[in-house]
Amino acid sequence: MDIKEIRNAARALAKGSCRVCPVCDGRACAGEVPGMGGAGSGAAFAANIAALASLRLAPRLIHSVRQPKMGISLLGLSLSLPLLIGPIGGIGFNLNGAVSEEEYQEAVVDGALQAGIIAGLPDAVNPEILRTGLACARRRGGKGIPFIKPWEPEPFEEKMDLAAAAGCALVGSDLDSVGLVTLTRQGHPVYPKSRRDLARMADMAHSRSLRFLIKGIMAVEDAIICLEAGVDGIIVGNHGGRVLDYAPGGAEALPAIATAVSGRMALLADGGIRGGVDILKMLALGADAVLIGRPYAIAAIGGGAEGVALYTQMCREQLEQAMVMTGCADVALAGPHLLFPGR
Ligand SMILES: Cc1cc2nc3c(=O)[nH]c(=O)nc-3n(C[C@H](O)[C@H](O)[C@H](O)COP(=O)(O)O)c2cc1C
Repeated sequence: MDIKEIRNAARALAKGSCRVCPVCDGRACAGEVPGMGGAGSGAAFAANIAALASLRLAPRLIHSVRQPKMGISLLGLSLSLPLLIGPIGGIGFNLNGAVSEEEYQEAVVDGALQAGIIAGLPDAVNPEILRTGLACARRRGGKGIPFIKPWEPEPFEEKMDLAAAAGCALVGSDLDSVGLVTLTRQGHPVYPKSRRDLARMADMAHSRSLRFLIKGIMAVEDAIICLEAGVDGIIVGNHGGRVLDYAPGGAEALPAIATAVSGRMALLADGGIRGGVDILKMLALGADAVLIGRPYAIAAIGGGAEGVALYTQMCREQLEQAMVMTGCADVALAGPHLLFPGR
């Protein structure tokens, strides 16, 4: 199996919900939420791609870097690459049931494990979606990070109990689901949180020995509140452009947030990352690690766990080459100096 075969298989199975375009940039699927697109005009999805495309890496050739270090330790996890699989759920309504929810979550959990990384697990109105992902993670010793929607405290806590029972070490919440039409249309919207709400959510996680991540932070002020509320890490990103039309790209929001909180909490980022070069760009802007969403959906649907592992291997090779070409010996040393012109 190669990447081309995987993509062709995914295109057929997705039955038009994802066209598996040569460049996954949100043009063909603009406005398709539910679906694989960005919200409204698709501008926020496009901003993710444009923000990364506007960055240049600075070539350096006189140095001793040959086999750069790509592994990291992140909140107690040991990862072979600074890369996680973004949680993607609702394969039925977003991807025309290309595969079953269980086949999908199993592919990402197992493929991630084979490649030495870890998969995010989705949550949705239908409780079976979280249960399915957690069951896959439980079978693999808790190797998955569930992202629980920011429900009211009681249902949120119940779902956190499920995460703890599955043996997970980390749990997250995608706070930006406030903007998800899929929740609203099903009659279960979620709402913005206060500083106190966040502290309570973090306490719930910590009292179960779980580290706690907040996903979807795009403002310095919100990042600082997360830090002060005891959140262990944040993911800068706009939910793949699915929650606010005309939001900026993740790579646009990241530098200021990195300046504010870097080194004081885990800092992750996502949105529009399509391979190893984009990973290095996000690290240069201040991320400790990144998430990739849609390309993994294509890999998992078209190639199962093997497809996921293969796509990760491609990212690994691209990242390694980009690090050698920029003289970066260790992903932990990536910084703005890798960008051209230097910042
Ligand atoms: C169909 C679809 C479903 C998603 N479901 C979730 C979800 O349940 N929870 C969540 O936190 N993010 C969800 N996301 C967002 C991804 O985890 C990730 O943040 C985003 O896709 C990253 O952008 P990229 O696809 O350009 O890499 C979803 C994205 C897509 C495309």
